[in-house]
Amino acid sequence: MPLSLSRRAARTVQSEIRAMSIACEKVQGINLAQGICDTEVPLPVREGAKQAMDQGINSYTRAEGLAPIRQAIAEKMQRFNGVACDPETEVVVSSGATGAFYAACLALLNPGDEVILFEPYYGYHLNTLIAAEAVPLCVTLRAPDWTFNREDLERTVTLRTRAIVLNSPANPSGKVFTREELEWIASFAKRHDLFVFTDEIYEYFVFEGHHISMATLPGMRERTITMSGYSKTFSITGWRIGYTICDRRWAQGIAYFQDLIYVCAPAPLQIGVAEGIRQLPESFYAEIGKEYVVKRDMLCAVLKEIGLTPSVPNGAYYVLADGSILPGRTSRDKAMYLLQQTGVATVAGSAFYHGNGGENLIRFCFAKTDAELTEACRRLNNLPEKLRAGTLAANTRE
Ligand SMILES: Cc1ncc(COP(=O)(O)O)c(C=O)c1O
Repeated sequence: MPLSLSRRAARTVQSEIRAMSIACEKVQGINLAQGICDTEVPLPVREGAKQAMDQGINSYTRAEGLAPIRQAIAEKMQRFNGVACDPETEVVVSSGATGAFYAACLALLNPGDEVILFEPYYGYHLNTLIAAEAVPLCVTLRAPDWTFNREDLERTVTLRTRAIVLNSPANPSGKVFTREELEWIASFAKRHDLFVFTDEIYEYFVFEGHHISMATLPGMRERTITMSGYSKTFSITGWRIGYTICDRRWAQGIAYFQDLIYVCAPAPLQIGVAEGIRQLPESFYAEIGKEYVVKRDMLCAVLKEIGLTPSVPNGAYYVLADGSILPGRTSRDKAMYLLQQTGVATVAGSAFYHGNGGENLIRFCFAKTDAELTEACRRLNNLPEKLRAGTLAANTRE
């Protein structure tokens, strides 16, 4: 047998988003491709981590995480999400929501198990399932409201289906699932005996309506694996602090796989996040929604103006816009054109679909400082002129 990558590696593709970020760096553009939250980290979070380091909290921790952060998360889950959980046995601190999902897949899915995923999906969800040798089955959310057809779900599920992935507020659509939709998904999950993996990383980024955790719906606590983290809320994407809340039977297995893959989340950073949760007032979280709705509206207004009609998101911090007017056969060509002409990096819609559903879509991220977003908008405003110049040049050549 010649040397080669595993079949698993061959099936997983490099993140389109990372590739776009690299292209953006080359042209020193503004990166609206990646959800890199470069807004300020709250002081108690930074101070908490520094003090923890100085106090010698620098060693391995229990795979489930240090007691102060588990306690802080359990209290927050009760207060904000309305989910009661035991910090000793039902909270697992992870290396981001990414680590949480990977460990949960390894602990709860067998190779060949089918898992339903709504598309447009978050690429890591798809690729994590593939890496865990599960079989993703896509059900499409329909623009502009990103509604799903209940029959599609019923048609998709089989006896081999073990779980459904939910992401609300969603990346990239910005959809916030309504209570009615969640209730229907809950009854669907119960009827077919499915786990619900719910990624709630954008729980504080809600502009219309409010966040509802699946685990609060009647009869859902046992089968729901709630995953979230502080990458977005505290602007600490590089710290890698997330968590899983679930029944103790599942938590043990998840902690075990986590231990195997990366042992634990970074010890002093666990304390920094615990301090942030403990010290920051409710107003801090309310401000997030208010701050981001301004960013959303600034970006959406420009997109509308220049003909990249946005689907205005109700949550998270991404906008899917219609890129039909951009030259190019694929959404990748269109995103590249936009980067070359305006210096603004985005993500091709195809990154979020298994078929060709996203070829006319472009995703913009607005988790940027106001200065950067203003500059991106200024550059985007040049698009109509560039398009006209392109048409003129093409006409001249003819
Ligand atoms: C839906 C979703 N889940 C998880 C993550 C990553 O979270 P973490 O940094 O906690 O691993 C992202 C980041 O973009 C995301 O969009």
